[in-house]
Amino acid sequence: PRVHALVPAAGAGSRFGAEVPKQYLAVAGKAVIEHAVGVLASHPAVEGVTVTLAPDDDYFVGLALGADPTIGVVAGGATRAESVLNGLAYIRDQHDAEWVLVHDAARPGLDHAAIDRLLEAGLSSPDGALLALPIRDTLKRADADGCVAATVDREDLWAAQTPQLFPVQGLLDALQAQLDAGETPTDEAQAMERAGARPRLVMGSGMNLKVTWPEDLLAVRAWLGAGAD
Ligand code: CTP
Ligand code: MG
Repeated sequence: PRVHALVPAAGAGSRFGAEVPKQYLAVAGKAVIEHAVGVLASHPAVEGVTVTLAPDDDYFVGLALGADPTIGVVAGGATRAESVLNGLAYIRDQHDAEWVLVHDAARPGLDHAAIDRLLEAGLSSPDGALLALPIRDTLKRADADGCVAATVDREDLWAAQTPQLFPVQGLLDALQAQLDAGETPTDEAQAMERAGARPRLVMGSGMNLKVTWPEDLLAVRAWLGAGAD
């Protein structure tokens, strides 16, 4: 099966709060997005990579990655879901891949073994699959006063990661339907679930964390090597 990768990178990184969007911060001598794209582009099953960028992005062209003619570039949207939808429409029109791996630009710690697990589990069903991790902490539900109202059973709870693997056209239809309904999914699986699919949960990796807060950058720098930051 033909697999294309889509890396949404049109976010502003407002929670991180750096001068530049977090996907352009340096980790081990490369930008965060260069790690994320590089792991996908170098996987033997991935035939191409497309990134979606903010329309006013000044940073991508300055990267080594920005000079790579094999990487497709598409304008993103106001939400992650719209950015992914734009990228999917481009992939459908420019490539005849059947499957897409959608992966956050802000996750530099992905590895080939995790991609292998995802492809193995997901390519056999149109319902697709996603990387995820079992919840490690005990979960509490808060009441209006900030006190514990209940302990939530974590037995069957998982934290979703990316990549998420789905058929290109199926995901496009599901995302479009959800956006048309005025809802904004925060991952691809949510749109597929709403359309009736049961995506398979595949064991992700602790190092595949999404750089969200400043301390996350310290963790990925430690894992990926000090380099020339
Ligand atoms: N993303 C995107 N288009 C948007 C918003 C987000 O392509 N309109 C991308 C981000 O660039 C990131 C991924 O989706 O690679 C995950 O989003 P998130 O971690 O929320 O990144 P930001 O939206 O940039 O961060 P924040 O929510 O803190 O502003
Ligand atoms: Mg965001």
